[in-house]
Amino acid sequence: MAKKFVTIKTVWPDALQLAHAAAHLIVVESNKAVQQKGIFTLALSGGSTPKILFQLLAQVPYKNNIPWKHVVVAFGDERFVAPTHEDSNYKMAMDSLLSHVPIPKKNILAIPILQLTPLASAKLYEAQLRKFVTAKNPFDLVLLGMGEDGHTASIFPKSELLTEDKRWVKEVWVAEKNMHRISFTFPLINRAKNIAFLVTGYAKAPIVKKILSGRGSAFPAAKVTAAENLYWFLDEASNGNF
Ligand code: 6PG
Repeated sequence: MAKKFVTIKTVWPDALQLAHAAAHLIVVESNKAVQQKGIFTLALSGGSTPKILFQLLAQVPYKNNIPWKHVVVAFGDERFVAPTHEDSNYKMAMDSLLSHVPIPKKNILAIPILQLTPLASAKLYEAQLRKFVTAKNPFDLVLLGMGEDGHTASIFPKSELLTEDKRWVKEVWVAEKNMHRISFTFPLINRAKNIAFLVTGYAKAPIVKKILSGRGSAFPAAKVTAAENLYWFLDEASNGNF
């Protein structure tokens, strides 16, 4: 019988304290994975919320307590824009973290965009990921954000990605954002050992309440499970304490 995952919700006074808590989890899980199997596979979330965490990880003490030489970083989703574009999740992660820590360049798995169609980009990225993660050896940690509409990664409400049950990475046209996105799918996300939602701000309190009370099962973020631990890192505001 499939082992039930554990949901761990923690509430922090503000976004900075939340980022410190998430940084601590990454220190613990990265050292554990490298001791056990010599590699730590981490998928980064996009959007604005993780920026504080990324900036913290690029500073001591976290910077010196993560075995960067053995860390492989991927991106849970990407906007279909050039890696130099302001909206690029890759650019945000490089500028706020990855260009400041001793992670080998070959261990940064950016979603290929240039000179590719969205379909080719998604197919190529899945092939790249399958060299590092397998069904038996999934991501050690996947970071996720959530929108006010309950979307996560680039899986939006009513999206065709909601029913994808084979491909690990898929291209999708997101009408709400008037752009193509490349996104992890649930078959890849939900087999991760650990998943951590980072959610801040008053605007997200209603959707957090719906999902964590079990009334929001239709929302994409509610369909996220994990192999072992599903963490919800919330600040007071997104937890509705106001
Ligand atoms: C993206 C994300 C997306 C994000 C949410 C929350 O590329 O935009 O991966 O799923 O996590 O939209 O975004 P904010 O953190 O900016 O609120």
